[in-house]
Amino acid sequence: MAIQQDVLEAFEQQFGTSAEILVQSPGRVNLIGEHTDYNDGFVLPMAINRAIWIALQPVTGSEVTAYSLAFDETQTFDLSDLSHTDAGWIEYVKGVAAKLQEAGHQLTDWQGVIGSDIPMGAGLSSSAAIELATAQAFAAISDIPWQPKEMALLSQKAENEWVGMKSGIMDQMISAVGETGHALLIDCRSLDTQSVPLPDGTVVVVLDTSTRRGLVDSKYNERREQCEQVAAYFGVPALRDVSLEAFQARQHELEDLSRMRARHVITENDRTLDAAEAMRKGDAVKLGELMNASHVSMRDDFEISTVELDRMVECAQGQEGCYGARMTGGGFGGSAVALVQTEEVEQFVEETRQCYEEKTGLEASIYISEASAGTSYIREW
Ligand code: GLA
Repeated sequence: MAIQQDVLEAFEQQFGTSAEILVQSPGRVNLIGEHTDYNDGFVLPMAINRAIWIALQPVTGSEVTAYSLAFDETQTFDLSDLSHTDAGWIEYVKGVAAKLQEAGHQLTDWQGVIGSDIPMGAGLSSSAAIELATAQAFAAISDIPWQPKEMALLSQKAENEWVGMKSGIMDQMISAVGETGHALLIDCRSLDTQSVPLPDGTVVVVLDTSTRRGLVDSKYNERREQCEQVAAYFGVPALRDVSLEAFQARQHELEDLSRMRARHVITENDRTLDAAEAMRKGDAVKLGELMNASHVSMRDDFEISTVELDRMVECAQGQEGCYGARMTGGGFGGSAVALVQTEEVEQFVEETRQCYEEKTGLEASIYISEASAGTSYIREW
């Protein structure tokens, strides 16, 4: 893999010696189950064959030194004096270090090179990937047993409390525990996971609109608050606890916006469970229908889609061999995901690209994605 070689070579250039450890943590695409995670609900993501890589070696001293290939920049920080300085990408690394320490772990310093082939801001979770890669880097050299769920939760804490984005657990969990060839149905309350295979003869295609979400943390956090308010109104801990029947019986009591937001989450939870069932049966048609319905719900009820995402989804849905398509991730820009018949995929990619360019004037980046394994490290390569 090219990026793996790049970080190893850059390590030698930066530090004049060979790296001892190579860590990887993948990005993800969510097949269905959007904005359900922080409602204690269900998600169905898969880790993709794009990842953050860190080549590193432990050092004795009092500093962590990290060079980012993407930013061509070196940053250092002192583990005994961690403070938030808004220094960009390094805050993810510092945030994870801080949360590992808060959990009682003794950390060893390292020097390393960070590289990535996950496009940033594309809704493919490059932030969760750098968090888990950092956790794995520290764990590997500091004798911390690797417990993926614990590490996912610590990384989410870093994202929530250090970076300030009140995201749910989906991205960190799937980056940590992804499985080759499978998507994972994750119960975001218990953190139980079930692996579900992709239907035979299908591939997952990521359709990056090349639009990036701007200052939207506030919109994300606002959606979260709206959901929490409806849960409180129903007197339950989270929207996960409101059945469709209970919701329908009382939805007229809610204001329009609250009703729309809650309807998305409650129906999306059901769709996600149905999608996992369809996958177990190898029913690509049903899975595709659920993906299409999910897009409508996000567009009309949760209002997190954009013109570009809608055009991309329409272009994809209109192609031969496409079972279904929807926007994926937090929304307000980024990527869509499509389920496509393997034998039609090349034509699908070309025609979707062309259709999207005609409708928006923008160039899409399209990736045929393989379900990949979660965070790991190696000492020999
Ligand atoms: C972002 C968040 C996740 C999840 C999705 C929407 O990716 O990080 O926790 O809420 O949005 O499903």
